[in-house]
Amino acid sequence: MSFRTPRTWPPQGGRVFLSAILLGLLGIGAATAQLPARPVIDAVKELAAIKAVSDLDDDPADAEAVQQVCTTCHSSSQFLGTPRSSGRWEQVFGQMAQLGARPTDTQVDQIVRYFQRNLMVVNVNTSPMEELGPTLQADPNATTAIVMRRGERRFTGIADLAAIPGVKRSVLERLKGRLQF
Ligand code: HEC
Repeated sequence: MSFRTPRTWPPQGGRVFLSAILLGLLGIGAATAQLPARPVIDAVKELAAIKAVSDLDDDPADAEAVQQVCTTCHSSSQFLGTPRSSGRWEQVFGQMAQLGARPTDTQVDQIVRYFQRNLMVVNVNTSPMEELGPTLQADPNATTAIVMRRGERRFTGIADLAAIPGVKRSVLERLKGRLQF
């Protein structure tokens, strides 16, 4: 397992772990001599689909990295439209690395960011700060406030969460199906 230090915003344990899985299994991927024949995949359509479900504020390079790495063997329909928890994505990334996914360091960061922002399910009452921050697109002050508040009283829904300063309603609207309480 190779480990890397996060380049952005302090406590991103989840991100480092996801990245380590994607990178750490590269050795195994590289050892796979023969891959099964690949279906015909339309890169332009794939990129459009990946961008279509991404946040307007996302860096387009993130969607490009996902297209380049995650649609070489199958269509993005394998993963778009099925948000998962951080733990489930870790399993998928590990599985894909074993099957031969070979992202560069930069692509790992871009892919993890894309998934956190667009395809990750978080539980507002139980997920760690390092998952809540990127998915809610909230700064450390806001995520700290969430963690303190849930220690006293559970969040019951979106309206409740929106009352925390720094939590953006526009983001919560997008996250409706990806927030658990
Ligand atoms: C080297 C080829 C390859 C690459 C690159 C690849 N995959 Fe896969 N992926 C597969 C294969 C093969 C399957 C079918 C595996 C199976 O069903 O056991 C699969 C299946 C999946 C599934 C369905 C798994 C399930 O359990 O339902 C998801 C989700 C997925 N891939 C996501 C991704 C993501 C995200 C990436 C980019 C990080 C990626 N894949 C890159 C080969 C690849």
